[in-house]
Amino acid sequence: MLTLGIETSCDETSFAVLKNGRLILSNVVSSSLFRHKPFGGIVPEIASRHSLEQVDTVFHEALKKAKIKPRDLDLVAVTEGPGLIGSLLVGVCFAKSLSYELGVPLVGVNHLEAHLVAPFIIFDHDKIFPRVKEPMRFLGLLVSGGHTCLTLHEKGRVTLLGETVDDAVGEAYDKVAKILGLGYPGGPVIDKLAYEGDSEKFRFTKPKQKNRFDFSFSGIKTAVLYTVQKQKNLSRPFICDMAASFQKACVHWLVEKTFVAADEHKVQDIVVGGGVSANSLLRKSLTDEGVKRDLKMWIPPLMLTTDNAAMIGARGFDLYRQGKRASLQLTGNPSLKVA
Ligand code: KG4
Ligand code: ZN
Repeated sequence: MLTLGIETSCDETSFAVLKNGRLILSNVVSSSLFRHKPFGGIVPEIASRHSLEQVDTVFHEALKKAKIKPRDLDLVAVTEGPGLIGSLLVGVCFAKSLSYELGVPLVGVNHLEAHLVAPFIIFDHDKIFPRVKEPMRFLGLLVSGGHTCLTLHEKGRVTLLGETVDDAVGEAYDKVAKILGLGYPGGPVIDKLAYEGDSEKFRFTKPKQKNRFDFSFSGIKTAVLYTVQKQKNLSRPFICDMAASFQKACVHWLVEKTFVAADEHKVQDIVVGGGVSANSLLRKSLTDEGVKRDLKMWIPPLMLTTDNAAMIGARGFDLYRQGKRASLQLTGNPSLKVA
């Protein structure tokens, strides 16, 4: 069975073809990030225009790479939300037209839930070393530019355990990078500079939430801002020390809550996804802690941490198998919630 995944929720326009919902035949991503950089963040109008310009080309390239024709497709899966409405509508309109034209089913996908399928996707070379069976019950840690949440997944049912009450962790990385004059996006550059810095140089107060599994990252961002304002000269050693200290605190809070939730809900498997799951310290800390506690960590390969259509196709395939179908009434839902 061949699924076409379509992702246009933010600054990426991506199409992917998957065989049986897991094997990538193609995954083409066109990013408009370079167009947003001068503005220090995503400009919604630029993102949707870029998607509109790119959508047809990326679709044809994905089919070409997969060596298939449109008529070979059996299912169309598209990001329904959350995201920017203009960008979402480009993908949703394209998906509806294609599913109608080909007479194949259409499925709307929650982008956040899709991030957590990324570690289960396989590439051609993985067929030689098949991975162990996918867990039916697991804890999900979603860390992206717009969301930070802990979820419990049981036989396809998703329960939200906690989420950020203010900034998402990726958003905090982006804002701290801006404060330090490092440009956008902030995650990769802070991750890199942190290796040159002293992570003990600055200490941040751990935020306390009513719900133990909620997160907060706006306090640390403000603490960084106040420290920077007091600093006369933003020298490279100062920036690196701040990057290392900020990263250590964020990762520590994420990892701590994840394992408390894993203990409480007695899960054997933890699945991670979202742009911040590319973070080197987070990947290492989760892996090390997982080994210590004998829990299986599922972390996506780097190329599937950020937004891509392969994860949309994979999640869409699962929803299709659960009997979910979207009608031609499907529309973009910018504030679609997880669970
Ligand atoms: O999942 P994603 O591509 O987009 C959303 O759905 O939001 O995540 C983008 C976020 C940005 O905030 C970016 O700064 C962050 O992921 N990011 C990282 C790293 N690479 C990307 N954050 C920390 N460390 C990284 N290496
Ligand atoms: Zn995302």
